[in-house]
Amino acid sequence: MKALILYASWTGNTKIVAKSIAAGLRKKGIEVKEKNIKKATLKEIEFCNILVIGSATHGGKALFSVKSFFEKIPKGALKGKRGVSFAVQAGWGGDRVVKEIKEYFLKKGIDKVEAGPVISAGIPLLPVRRPTEDDLKKCKRFGEKLAEEG
Ligand SMILES: Cc1cc2nc3c(=O)[nH]c(=O)nc-3n(C[C@H](O)[C@H](O)[C@H](O)COP(=O)(O)O)c2cc1C
Repeated sequence: MKALILYASWTGNTKIVAKSIAAGLRKKGIEVKEKNIKKATLKEIEFCNILVIGSATHGGKALFSVKSFFEKIPKGALKGKRGVSFAVQAGWGGDRVVKEIKEYFLKKGIDKVEAGPVISAGIPLLPVRRPTEDDLKKCKRFGEKLAEEG
């Protein structure tokens, strides 16, 4: 089992959350790569069974790099994989981001897709608030659960 976690992050919070989910997956023996979505290659997507994608929330939407990533994916490239979405928000719109990413996955014909955590951190415009320890623990547990479900 291999997982790829891609994050779209301006000020680092979504990257921090991605690392916690990765830690949970690793704890359960899954091989994990985590990467900025802008640097992801099609080869890496082929490599994974589980593809986790998360974004910061900007104006109630995922960052543009998420949309352009999915536009680059050829039809059928996600067949047989499991997709998971997550989001980081300051206060609102993270649930919309999770749904937006789920829809991108479905449009590309992924077999199975689910909504992951919505974490609150930052404030609009400034990253002064990092994710809490509790939230990061929750994300790690989420990663463990993903690994257990396979
Ligand atoms: C241009 C801009 C727009 C934002 N819009 C929202 C928003 O609609 N809802 C929200 O809750 N937070 C909003 N935020 C706050 C970020 O989602 C929040 O700070 C998040 O933690 C940033 O994640 P990152 O550190 O991975 O970039 C916005 C931030 C910026 C810079």
